[in-house]
Amino acid sequence: MTQIHKDIKRVFVDEASIIARSKELGKQISEDYDREGKNPLLVAVLKGSIPFMAELMKHITIDVEMDFMAVSSYEGTRSIGDVKILKDLDRSIKGLDILLVEDIVDTGRTIDQVVQLLMNKGAREVKIVSLLDKPSRRVLEMNADYIGFTIEDAFVVGFGLDFNEKYRNLPYIGVLKDELYQ
Ligand code: IMP
Ligand code: MG
Repeated sequence: MTQIHKDIKRVFVDEASIIARSKELGKQISEDYDREGKNPLLVAVLKGSIPFMAELMKHITIDVEMDFMAVSSYEGTRSIGDVKILKDLDRSIKGLDILLVEDIVDTGRTIDQVVQLLMNKGAREVKIVSLLDKPSRRVLEMNADYIGFTIEDAFVVGFGLDFNEKYRNLPYIGVLKDELYQ
């Protein structure tokens, strides 16, 4: 049995469910891309997407490559596509079909900016797979093509997701005890 971290109030999605859902998504993604004769480049935005990227790619049966980037929003600006690249992709993505791997879509601002950035770099297509989706928090009409789990409006940690850079290593997704947020 998984030992639950002392700071966790409730487990939202357990490890077995994340693996089972990643298997389903991997199968569906493989079938969809195979049907269209495409081999996507998997792009994960650091750092939250790493555990999901690692789990998901094991269940993709078509040939894929992987790359990573890190971005941050410029302070005090909300303008679309205005995002600072902290770590860029290793190579040109001109003409490539990108499958952007995300941990969570919350307001939608991050994927909106990253998709714009990847299209500006000349990608042919950008699709999105996100482990979690919080549709109730959306401020932009941005949706993932593939979603692991849709959750209510709660702040969650684990399986890559952090609170002040902590808890990314938990193998499940959970809610922190209320006193941790004080
Ligand atoms: P968005 O730009 O508002 O869609 O937010 C996406 C990013 O916010 C994610 O990649 C996370 O880094 C962070 N985030 C949003 N919701 C949560 C949460 O519940 N737990 C941890 N991080 C979150
Ligand atoms: Mg974060």
